Amino acid sequence: MANDASAAFDTLSPAVSKGSLADPFTPPADSSLWRKNFLLGAATASYQIEGAVDEDGRLPSIWDTFSATPGKVLAGDTGAVACDHYHRWEADIDMLASLGLEGYRLSIAWPRVMDAAGRPNRKGLDFYKRLLNRLKEKGITSFVTLYHWDLPQHLEDRGGWLNRDTAYRFADYADLMSRELAGTVDAWATLNEPWCSAYLGYGNGHHAPGLANDRFATQAMHHLLLAHGLAIPVLRGNDPASQKGIVANIGRGTANSDSAADQRAAHLFEVQHNAWILDPLLKGEYPQDLFELWPGTEPLVLDGDMRTIAAPLDFLGINYYFRTNVASDGAHGFRDVPLEGVERTQMGWEVYPDGLRDLLTGFKKTYRNLPPIYITENGMASDDKVIDGHVDDAQRISFLKRHLAAVDQAIKAGVDVRGYFLWSLMDNFEWAFGYERRFGVVHVDYSTQKRTVKRSAELVAKFLKERKARV
Ligand code: FCB
Repeated sequence: MANDASAAFDTLSPAVSKGSLADPFTPPADSSLWRKNFLLGAATASYQIEGAVDEDGRLPSIWDTFSATPGKVLAGDTGAVACDHYHRWEADIDMLASLGLEGYRLSIAWPRVMDAAGRPNRKGLDFYKRLLNRLKEKGITSFVTLYHWDLPQHLEDRGGWLNRDTAYRFADYADLMSRELAGTVDAWATLNEPWCSAYLGYGNGHHAPGLANDRFATQAMHHLLLAHGLAIPVLRGNDPASQKGIVANIGRGTANSDSAADQRAAHLFEVQHNAWILDPLLKGEYPQDLFELWPGTEPLVLDGDMRTIAAPLDFLGINYYFRTNVASDGAHGFRDVPLEGVERTQMGWEVYPDGLRDLLTGFKKTYRNLPPIYITENGMASDDKVIDGHVDDAQRISFLKRHLAAVDQAIKAGVDVRGYFLWSLMDNFEWAFGYERRFGVVHVDYSTQKRTVKRSAELVAKFLKERKARV
């Protein structure tokens, strides 16, 4: 889609505009990234950036409750203010447009737009209407995620994702949103990373609501996927012109040795991280190996559920960050064996671009009906500092270049990847790690809310400018 040319690229530093800056980012001439219809954008999520948690009728979410619980989030940080995006959204969208980014992936805070009786909250809805209209005016393609983890607390009080009824409440929410916002959204994603909601939320308790039981995780996953499957036809009915999909995080597991036990461990790692979600969505069944890993945790599945879950998708969103090296745990599972001497990020995650390529090409073989793919998140955290008004995030520049090269390799191997969203547009509330971990291509000073475009964003903008200028 075309950008608002007048505003685009006016934030580039003189060095970048003049071309005098060394450019370690721009893809080689034969890269598919030069195709103008390859969408390049940035992503955020409501709880991580909005703040204003009790304004205009917003109800509490499970992340308000969790982050207010001592010991759950690093340094006791919460999303109460975050990037104050609820008040600064216009400037933030101008910034996005000024970088020439062509797509914006955002999420809607469910507790902002619906009250406990399921009635619309007009003030909350108006916020998203204004935002989406502005994106449209600027020619920025909008990807809207309905659920990026901020479940209304009143639903958690009735069992949250362990309660089948939550799936039906989600379908009501999807119905309201798609009736209200039809025509302003280019692509809807039902859920962000059901693996994290189910496993981190209900399986190991690292995320809200903080429960820890494998049986809970598989049941929560089933209700999440059911919620997704119920919502897809609702979205199709209310907003036929948009694309509909879901966003899954995927993990690469490699074996620590050639032994059959370690090879099996790596397989089980990928079953637990990838097939647990993708098999139900794309094959209509759970991978039986999952229940070898977690014996006796089969969820309660009612007649027709798997058909509902396997509703055809227009796109599959893929979030990729790192690989995990594993060995057999000596029983029926795997254990992490961190590799020495490899490059890592501020999160401690290994930088491993080949994993993205290998997973994408592997999915193409495994799933005959693999939908078109958007990389809906990829990026890294670094301890970025503003020095003389600039942030030189050299590791991120190299990280992005190498991961985009991996995407290009997957495309050349026949995988239909149509776009890529950087995680994230700006530094934000990184869940259990609070504000310490900085994933943005724009730096946020949380004491002043000043935004500073990092060098990575400048180089992405420079590339987009060059690509746009090509005939
Ligand atoms: C993903 C989340 C996203 C962000 C990145 C770093 O799991 O979807 O909100 O926190 O990780």
